Order: sequence, then C-alpha cells, then structure tokens
Amino acid sequence: MAEVVILPDAPSAGALVADEIVRLIRDRPHAVLGLATGSTPLPVYEALRSRLHGVDVSRVRGFALDEYVGIDPAHPQSYRSVITREVVEPLGLVPALIRTPDGRLEGIQHAGDQYEDAIEAAGGIDLQLLGIGTDGHIGFNEPGSSFASRTRVKTLTGQTRADNARFFASVDEVPVHCITQGLGTILRARHLVLLAFGEGKADAVAGAVEGPVTASLPGSAIQLHPHVTVVVDEAAASRLHYAEYYRDVWRNKPEWQGL
Ligand code: F6R
Repeated sequence: MAEVVILPDAPSAGALVADEIVRLIRDRPHAVLGLATGSTPLPVYEALRSRLHGVDVSRVRGFALDEYVGIDPAHPQSYRSVITREVVEPLGLVPALIRTPDGRLEGIQHAGDQYEDAIEAAGGIDLQLLGIGTDGHIGFNEPGSSFASRTRVKTLTGQTRADNARFFASVDEVPVHCITQGLGTILRARHLVLLAFGEGKADAVAGAVEGPVTASLPGSAIQLHPHVTVVVDEAAASRLHYAEYYRDVWRNKPEWQGL
C-alpha cells in the first residue's frame, strides 16, 4: 500500500519531502533523483534551497520525467529550461549531471532508448518525484499508457494541453507531443514520491491511490510499486475513502521506518 501523508499545506509537504531528499544525498552522495516539473514540485525545490547549504551535491545526478517535443531547448517553458531555473541553478547541482529527455525533432526516434540507457548506466533512479495530472497522468503518460512503457513520444490530451496553457501565451502554443519516461520506467525507480495539492487533484489522487489499477488512470500504476509515499494537502485528500486511516498510520509511524 502507498503511504499517504495528509498535511495542511504545500509548504509543509515541500519541507517533508526536502528533508527526505537531503537524508538520501547525505547517505548516498551520488544519489540519482527523478525530477518532476510543473507547479506541484516547486515547494520541494524551494525547501531544498536552505537545506542543501553545506551538503555536497557535486555527485548528485538527475533525470527529468519528460520534455515537450519540438520545443526549442532555450524556450523558457521547455522542461530543460525549467529544470535549470528551478532546480539546477538554485540548488547548485552540476548541469552536466542533470538530464532531460531530448525533445528536439532531429533524432527523436532514438531519444527514448538513449534516455533509458542513460538511466540504466546511472544505476537507476533512487527517488522519483511525481505530480499528477487532472486526468490521472504521471509523467506525461496519458490515459491508456501501458504499465510496461519505456521512455517514448506521446500525444498530450486536450485536457493536459488546456491545463498547461497557463505556462504559454495560449493553448495553441502548448506542444502537441511530448517525450516522457514510461510507466515501466517510473516503476523501476526505488522510491516514488507523488505530491498533489488542491481540490482539482482530488479525483485523480483518489483514483490513483484507491481506485482500480487501470491504464485509464495511469497514476494507479503506483499501486504496483513496493515503496510509494503520497504527500497531499487536505483539499487533494478530500475524496480519499480511507483518509482517517492514513492519518492514523502517519501519527503512529515508527521513527525508524523513515519515509
Ligand atoms: C511534469 C509531469 C506532469 C505533472 C502534472 C501535474 O514533469 O510529469 O505529470 O506533474 O501534469 O502538473 P502540475 O504540477 O503543474 O499540476
């Protein structure tokens, strides 16, 4: 079962997850982080800024979940730019050790396999941060994605493009295609940490944690993983049937267990 942690707000969620990442890096200075973009992980990156002072991050490696296809890597909304701006620069990570899938059209047919090879060569991902889309996607694995899928090109749903239009001048500027780690790729990470905030994510969270395991709600793939932590605020937790039980588990969690 996923461990579900219900917290009052996004900053406390960010602090909890940032503490876990710092613990991981202290333990394993060459840790491999799976990095999500979008607005959900920002409180984690924000909380990491102060916590990483004095921590050696020179060997930390990172792999972003996804990238838009056909976008100029220098575009401010390419995930390459977002990861550089929100993660690499403020946290002082080594740029050459942090990768995003290559969304450039030239060579796109091989970009997925190359990304998988790079993740494998790094020894796999230790901790994978995840957000969830209102349609239940994780990474950009839209409904119908295979649970065995690897990094590959996908077509974004109209709903995802509309959700992400807030980062662009209009919905027409949101790319139609993306390249994303597959559900199989994500399931190979050693620890999944899925965050969600706000009422708009409540149905997707309930479906992912408590609904049937189905490709129609890709986030439900987390139920197949042995080590998952779901960190949500009250609003995102509002449709969870077993919310009281999750609170009880968290209150009584033995300290030695860690996150
Ligand atoms: C981003 C990603 C997506 C987002 C999801 C939620 O790398 O893989 O799955 O996590 O679309 O987006 P936000 O966080 O903006 O609500």
